[in-house]
Amino acid sequence: VQSTGGNQTGKFGHSYGYGFLHEDINNSGDGGIYAELIQNRAFQYSRAFPVSTAHYFPINGASLTINNGTEPLSKALPASMKVSVGNSTVGKIGFENEGYWGMDVKTHKYTGSFWVKGAYTGCFTASLQSNLTDDVFGSVEVESKSVASEWTEHTFELTPEKDAPNSNNTFAITFDPKGTQGGSLDFNLISLFPPTYKNRKNGLRVDIAEALAEMNPHFLRFPGGNMLEGLENDTYWDWKDSLGPLKDRPGFQGVWGYQQTHGLGMMEYLEWAEDMDLQIVIGVWAGLALNGDVTPKEDLQPFIDDALNEIEFIRGSAETEWGAKRAALGHPEPFELNYVEIGNEDWLAGFPGGWDSYKEYRFIMFHDAIKAKYPEIQVIGSSATSDPADEGATTGPNLENGIKYPADAIGDYHPYREPDELVEEFDRFDNDIGHIIGEVAATHVNGATPPRWDGELYKYPWWIGAVGEAVSLIGYERNSDRIPGTFYAPVLKNENRFQWPITLIQFTADAAQTTRAVTWYCWSLFAHHPISHTLPTTSNSSYGPVYWGAGVDEARNGALVWKGAVYNTTDNASVPITVRFEGVEAGTKAQLTYLTNSVGDPYAYNDPRTGVQIVDTTTKELTAGANGAFEFSLPQLSVAVLDTEVA
Ligand code: AHR
Repeated sequence: VQSTGGNQTGKFGHSYGYGFLHEDINNSGDGGIYAELIQNRAFQYSRAFPVSTAHYFPINGASLTINNGTEPLSKALPASMKVSVGNSTVGKIGFENEGYWGMDVKTHKYTGSFWVKGAYTGCFTASLQSNLTDDVFGSVEVESKSVASEWTEHTFELTPEKDAPNSNNTFAITFDPKGTQGGSLDFNLISLFPPTYKNRKNGLRVDIAEALAEMNPHFLRFPGGNMLEGLENDTYWDWKDSLGPLKDRPGFQGVWGYQQTHGLGMMEYLEWAEDMDLQIVIGVWAGLALNGDVTPKEDLQPFIDDALNEIEFIRGSAETEWGAKRAALGHPEPFELNYVEIGNEDWLAGFPGGWDSYKEYRFIMFHDAIKAKYPEIQVIGSSATSDPADEGATTGPNLENGIKYPADAIGDYHPYREPDELVEEFDRFDNDIGHIIGEVAATHVNGATPPRWDGELYKYPWWIGAVGEAVSLIGYERNSDRIPGTFYAPVLKNENRFQWPITLIQFTADAAQTTRAVTWYCWSLFAHHPISHTLPTTSNSSYGPVYWGAGVDEARNGALVWKGAVYNTTDNASVPITVRFEGVEAGTKAQLTYLTNSVGDPYAYNDPRTGVQIVDTTTKELTAGANGAFEFSLPQLSVAVLDTEVA
């Protein structure tokens, strides 16, 4: 007889949540879910990433050079691109932009804009065209308003007459140099958006957002992850830099090897959450950076004040100082914010000094200030109370002797593991304080050599990894009296440039290649059968190879839910299972849904390049037998849900 670690309190006031962390890694923001098509649209740069005309190509011999410093478009955007008559003698000159490894061109409306400085009488031509042939799929003439004395914005709409056969396309702007004085013009903030998710201005890419929304997520944690922390203490992700008109956003020195635009900013994240009905967990910067920089105690107060301002910006009324700033940006209604995390993985940032400071005063200073003003906010610390992966570690922080959080706080646990290890952690939270599982994924194959972080991550989420991960998800969910939710990380990957191959969704510029990984199917299955409370379970067999948990969902008229995973890596037999819910009578219907791997190979994955998809979904309606029991069997390496709400 075994009982779950969970109980019936439903403490967090919402159903148990499945969600994801988003930060800009793998071009998951710029060149990813942020729908902007132009790469290097505003020639933004930072210490790590110098300014350049990268991703632009001259048309008709034009010369493209950076103009940095003289009469900039704005303080935030000091550099621009000077387009001048170079080798060309006749005709229009200009430039094309290759986008983020291409552009999907369809017969829908694109919305564009660009800023120009320099006297010009005539028209600009904006076109979407093939990079391989002479095909121009659509173009529009934009009458010049450009003058020598100031920057002027030009806007346009462009609807191609035909779909491009592939995404190897560019966006071009040309002009007649004869209409200029001196044959040159300065360009900046060149922007082009396709239709966006829920038609938001400056919004999200539809196919990627829909793939996420279809998973039925509950949580969005942002802005990182490492992105929150920054490479150095003076380059953390300052939320204030991401507000307002694009010309006032300086861009961010990304921590994953590329410059970011700040286009996907605080408001865009909040609107994303609003549009998908997601609870948010925001990470506030704790004064520690990835390189080990530590903001000392005596300098911390301004950052604590800044975190309070950030919270007020999100959830304060329009009458408050920062709520008014949000209202001025078009959202007078406060957003819902119930979870605030202090920093990210601070046992790594600035270890040992930064971590010691986090334990000694840093966390508690932020915690106390936030709780004093917002007692109802759930404050989250950026580490777990312990991490089995660190047991016996001699060179890293030994979290066994780790942080003690105040009674009202919860921790954050980030298991990136081999599937066997995730299975071993099934009962990890049965006797611990509350946590979010702020990042989790099966990342390395069982028995990987060299082990874990000394070696490569696997190339895509793979089937046995997904099943092992599903076991751990059940382990977290059955402790939902203390764990409000689980977050996949990182969530998105552009196949053309990535730092972390294992993600829920893979994509290229071509929307037809957007691929839900095998793990997406497991998370989606669990997320589509939410529970508001766990139920105690008893069984006449022990856990393994079947792992399970049960719950009830008050929001669905008390639907009863059993979630299970069969993690039998050597025995290929199906496992007979009988589930009986207390009080369920003979004749009651339930729906069994289970996921299996159609090709048998436990290392198989969904491949965005070939289109091969390996997850089979089986759905059956079951009827409870004489003793109110549902009887079924589950195949080797399968993930299942039994739900008395029958679709
Ligand atoms: O998800 C990728 C990275 O893994 C996150 O940025 C960081 O928090 C973790 O180490």
